[in-house]
Amino acid sequence: TQRAMATLPRVYVSRKVPPQGLEILRKSGQVQIELWDSDDPVPRQELLKKVKGCDGLLCVLTEKIDAELLNAAGPKLKVVSTMSVGFDHLSLDELKKRGIRVGYTPEVLTDAVAELTVALLLTTSRRLIEATHEAKTGGWGTWRTLWLCGYELANSTVGILGLGRIGVAIAERLKPFKVNKFIYTDVAPRPELAEVIQAEYVSMDELARRSDFLAVCCALTPDTQGICNKNLFSKMKNTSIFINTSRGGVVNQEDLYEALSSGQIAGAGLDVTTPEPLPTSHPLFSLKNCVILPHIASASYTTRNDMSALAANNLLAGLRGEPMPKELQL
Ligand code: DGY
Repeated sequence: TQRAMATLPRVYVSRKVPPQGLEILRKSGQVQIELWDSDDPVPRQELLKKVKGCDGLLCVLTEKIDAELLNAAGPKLKVVSTMSVGFDHLSLDELKKRGIRVGYTPEVLTDAVAELTVALLLTTSRRLIEATHEAKTGGWGTWRTLWLCGYELANSTVGILGLGRIGVAIAERLKPFKVNKFIYTDVAPRPELAEVIQAEYVSMDELARRSDFLAVCCALTPDTQGICNKNLFSKMKNTSIFINTSRGGVVNQEDLYEALSSGQIAGAGLDVTTPEPLPTSHPLFSLKNCVILPHIASASYTTRNDMSALAANNLLAGLRGEPMPKELQL
């Protein structure tokens, strides 16, 4: 009835998330849902208006969940559930201060992200985008001995910057390509994870010097902001390939442009940039040795549905005052 509905917790869903998640929310009978029923982000002003008085918020990574938003929401807000494993768009201090619980979506996307990272690595190292372009546009004169040569994984050293679930999953997939050695760096050694892939813990310096392929898999935090900069690129081999499927903010893009255009490193594959979308006029788009994807690492139908389902279940559990399936410890 209308009266029963009016007493249910109010939830704002800031994006048309995949159907599984919406189903879970609708069928729960536990919440009143208001949905920003669009594939595009809700305008900030609209979001600030809509969150007012809500008990829960289900958002995606384009929404900045900061003091301004939390103040606009007001004291009823108990749960923020983001449909992402990354949480750099959330001001954790502000959430913690207000006692708001946070759900996120680790694990369900690990396979999809690792798979895409391997695809991007091979696309970059074997110059596939350049190659299809040449084939289509008349550059394919004849078979030539060193034309479109790239770098192979066999006998290589693969470096992982930030060893977590995703880094391990990437290494497991690369191993059958006959990688010789995995090395990694992180704030501290992670022996349980490293053991799975027989990876050696090294300093940032050594990671730069030794990696033939360097995959960035760390979270974006104040500590990792811009750590892939001139200092790192200048230590890398000029035959090395740099891959980033984490967050654009870990890379200093001016320094990367310099490293790529001067031949300091051989190539880069980026699924993430600053800003997103990266303007089509950005210098990185002018480089043949830079492959740029529009943040699609988790974009499989299965994974995006699983992410929406997990985000919905996190939200509902949080509103019931129960432990969430995947809760971020603040
Ligand atoms: C995440 O989940 O943080 C990704 O960037 C999008 O899937």
